[in-house]
Amino acid sequence: MGKLLLTGGARLSGTIVSSGSKNGTLAIMAGALLGKGETVLRNVPSIGDVQTMMDMLRALGVKCEEEGNGVVRIDATEIAATEAPYELVKRMRASFCVLGPMLARKGYAKVAMPGGCDIGARPIDFHVKGIQTLGAYVNIDHGFVEAECEALKGTQVYLNFPSAGATQHIMTTACLAEGVTTIHNAAAEPEITQLAAFLTGMGAQIEGAGTSTVRVEGVDELRGVDFEMPPDRMEAGTFAVAAVVTMGDVRIERISEEVVEPFVLKLREVGAVVDISETTMRVRANARPMPTDIMTMPHPGFPTDLQQPFAAMLAIADGTSVITENVYERRFRYVSELARMGAEIKQEGRTAVINGVPKLTGAQTTAYDLRAGAALVCAALAAEGKSEISDIEHIERGYENMVEKLRSLGAQVSNLPNEREKETVCV
Ligand code: UD1
Repeated sequence: MGKLLLTGGARLSGTIVSSGSKNGTLAIMAGALLGKGETVLRNVPSIGDVQTMMDMLRALGVKCEEEGNGVVRIDATEIAATEAPYELVKRMRASFCVLGPMLARKGYAKVAMPGGCDIGARPIDFHVKGIQTLGAYVNIDHGFVEAECEALKGTQVYLNFPSAGATQHIMTTACLAEGVTTIHNAAAEPEITQLAAFLTGMGAQIEGAGTSTVRVEGVDELRGVDFEMPPDRMEAGTFAVAAVVTMGDVRIERISEEVVEPFVLKLREVGAVVDISETTMRVRANARPMPTDIMTMPHPGFPTDLQQPFAAMLAIADGTSVITENVYERRFRYVSELARMGAEIKQEGRTAVINGVPKLTGAQTTAYDLRAGAALVCAALAAEGKSEISDIEHIERGYENMVEKLRSLGAQVSNLPNEREKETVCV
């Protein structure tokens, strides 16, 4: 664990290659529990959250080996344990999604209540309701969720909000249920489509992934599959912001146009020139960004994970912008930190009003969560002078080789040793 030291002002230019998607990989690794035989995952990002998920699979007695070069081999033919330990689930909310696959394979699963980044209330009621509706008996006691079933049965599930995690969890669990499960008001995030492609490769029957109605026809057994992780759209969005705030010229390779669309349109609104050809996105800017308003929404709306880096960009815009956070109400933990750098942001409830200032100045700051950390990095790249960002373990959870990638683009950034070790609690 450590700190980042950044000296702002360098114009970023050059090319980076997108890493594998953090959120996509985590859901897929949990889904790998369904398969008998070896699953080979490629382009897996080397980040803290993936390490946590690998630790989780091993704790369940599943074979999980890192081969290097982004290749991870998982063999869940045998699942030796049925309890997911508190120490791992409290670190990362996505690890809770091993509950359904374990239940489907073993008829019983016990998983600690999840922890996660402190970005607002993060209940699991949709997950629990989905599992119950599929026929499991669920008991929540002493901080653990315990689920048991004779057999899971296809059903109709309605989500009160299109939750990405609940859609992934229920879709995965339903793959081994008897009959047809339909998820109504499902999330349509690209990570759902990617997970469906992975599960289909294992032999699952899924229709409608990426729309608000997902239909899963249960099968008796799933097998291992060889699957390449899709690119990380949040990483692409963060580096695009870094290009704009430094008036740079950055190419991001290995992206897919449809998944970057929601934020590319916003980049153009602030005056950036964004060209997309096949799998490369080029982002250029030669002036202060223009202000714009942002409302976060489930996909294909503006992604909540990019609200924070975009706020750093709007902090130096030529005018006033309004951000409305509709997904996670406390995703404003960067506000106090950007204020240290001279940003003028007034936040109340789900809204932040940002009065752009001509320049930010370097300061000592703290990354309170993953995307808040990304916002501070973008702000520090644009700021005059040196900035120090502590608690960067949050950033390392979700961004692969961020320092190396930024340096390759000309940023002045280095790691500093931290004077204290801190336990990570994350999304
Ligand atoms: C995932 C992403 C996270 C992203 C979020 C929204 C992973 C590992 N994380 O998180 O980066 O910011 O989607 O795109 O993929 N909700 C409930 N009850 C539930 C579940 C969710 O009320 O049982 C609410 C949440 O409080 C939140 C909203 O639904 O207000 C959306 O949350 P959800 O989509 O589930 O987020 P995650 O899957 O946890």
